[in-house]
Amino acid sequence: MVLTEQEKQSLIDLANTARQRAYAPYSNYPVGAALRTRSGRIFTGVNIENAAYPHTMCAERVAIFKAVSDGEKDFEVISVVTDNGGSPCGGCRQVLAEFSLDTIVLMADGSGKLIKEMTVKELLPEAFTPDHLSK
Ligand code: THU
Repeated sequence: MVLTEQEKQSLIDLANTARQRAYAPYSNYPVGAALRTRSGRIFTGVNIENAAYPHTMCAERVAIFKAVSDGEKDFEVISVVTDNGGSPCGGCRQVLAEFSLDTIVLMADGSGKLIKEMTVKELLPEAFTPDHLSK
């Protein structure tokens, strides 16, 4: 599947707009994500922190969980926007890997510039997936 530059930028812009709604009073590191399914639906997410720090939830997982709870599990691409173009944490890579190793991950900075584009397979080599449990 080939994404046009315009499609990529539009997903990045959606994530960056969502990022304004991040709840990150402890880290001051707001993150926004926008996940597009193969059916064309888009789910956004932001990081949501908590005074009890470990209960924080990442932006990517918020977007993924919103999609799954709305019946969508076929993910094509996710954009992630942070101040400095940071990449998804290990936990989010694992959750993405649950659904597809082929999902494209766009990493962009706060100006909306695409910094890196990789697949989940590239971000999480030798991933543990549902296949391992069915053999
Ligand atoms: N964060 C995300 O939302 N996604 C990631 O992949 C990396 C980290 C959030 C969690 C926390 O609210 C803040 O960024 C600093 O770790």
